[in-house]
Amino acid sequence: MKKITVNTADAACPCKLSALAPEAVAALHTVEQATGAGNDFLGWVNLPSSISEAELADINATAESLRRDCEVVVAIGIGGSYLGAKAVIEALDNAFAAYLPAQAGAPKVLFAGQNIGEDYLAELSSFLADKKFGIIVISKSGTTTEPAIAFRILKEQLERQLGKAEASRRIVAITDEKRGALRTLATSEGYKTFIIPDNVGGRFSVLTPVGLLPIAVAGHDIKALVAGAVEMEELTRSTGEDNPCLQYAEARNALYRDGKKIEILVNYNPKLHFFGEWWKQLYGESEGKDGKGIFPAAVDFSTDLHSMGQWIQEGERTIFETVISVEESAHTTIIPSDNDNLDGLNYIAGKRVDQVNKMAELGTRLAHVDGGVPNIRISLPALEERWLGQLIYFFEKACGISGYMLGVNPFNQPGVEAYKKNMFALLAKPGYEAETEAIQARLK
Ligand code: PA5
Repeated sequence: MKKITVNTADAACPCKLSALAPEAVAALHTVEQATGAGNDFLGWVNLPSSISEAELADINATAESLRRDCEVVVAIGIGGSYLGAKAVIEALDNAFAAYLPAQAGAPKVLFAGQNIGEDYLAELSSFLADKKFGIIVISKSGTTTEPAIAFRILKEQLERQLGKAEASRRIVAITDEKRGALRTLATSEGYKTFIIPDNVGGRFSVLTPVGLLPIAVAGHDIKALVAGAVEMEELTRSTGEDNPCLQYAEARNALYRDGKKIEILVNYNPKLHFFGEWWKQLYGESEGKDGKGIFPAAVDFSTDLHSMGQWIQEGERTIFETVISVEESAHTTIIPSDNDNLDGLNYIAGKRVDQVNKMAELGTRLAHVDGGVPNIRISLPALEERWLGQLIYFFEKACGISGYMLGVNPFNQPGVEAYKKNMFALLAKPGYEAETEAIQARLK
């Protein structure tokens, strides 16, 4: 069976990796048997294989109705309620989709609520003024400030443009089954809703309706995406060295223990830029706690070889890289021959652009390994739904294993609350009176 593979030959010596194997297998058992910290957030472990045909059909039917009625669908959400859908859509869409005309039947999926940029919201709102649009509002808690602000503004605009009743038919809410302000609002306005399971944290939720609905609205095959994830779910139950999650978790923990505190996720395909953003959240929020954790960064090569390349090659030797290598491009573009050859490129005339890209990848790997940057390589056959489904589940499972090897609870995120408390105090949110007084005294 074709599948994604992990190569750790340039990461650490095999003896170091095999020394960590028993620990990695124990961490795998902790994930599979739900015996570790945060075990009430393991709903993602068997999620792919538990998604029914009926659930996929409901998501596809909802997507189809939004696609039919809308030129633009705005997915509102932040963090885990945003990054997974954004990553998959960017990976699968035409790179110039944003510049094609908006049309019902093939709507653009835009995002909001992932920032508090006033200009961003004003410009989105004016872009939508003459468009048929719909909204997917996603918030597990139903109370997150950024998406709540965006939803309030865009809901009001949609109701102004269409009337309340028709607007309600173009809004889909994805939230907790029972709790939260969004659930209350969705019930009172009669929105179509989907549930984010209690036991699936935001950053592990891309294979729930949180990711699947926007991905389906963008016209991509969620059945194939889930099928890929199911394949990886089955493959990664193995306790043998054929389990790619064990290979990755062992390699990154061996490197961390050797002083490599920063991991850069590298792609050689610009369509994977947001996959790097999704991965950063998954690993950063899962592992960065208790004074521990590999710092996750992401770069796009060869673009960033012309900005970050110097640091990576010769800066402080505290980094390692994990390269996502896509075996086959979707298109073929041949470099033409030129009679004058003023640019000196005739030596690669007749080659595919991807052949040059692959040599950039190989040359960079050799240079970085020589320069003291260990390299883990994850190969996937192509940028298609099935392989992305495999890749998503692979990273999720490896994250749980790796977090337990690090000795943290990979499924909480207590540190995220600190900025919110200060922001609410500064905005004098009801219930934060004491904090408001304290923060104002501090700022005098
Ligand atoms: O991973 C997480 O839990 C967070 O990134 C959340 O997804 C993010 O804060 C958004 O939360 P909510 O979906 O409750 O609005």
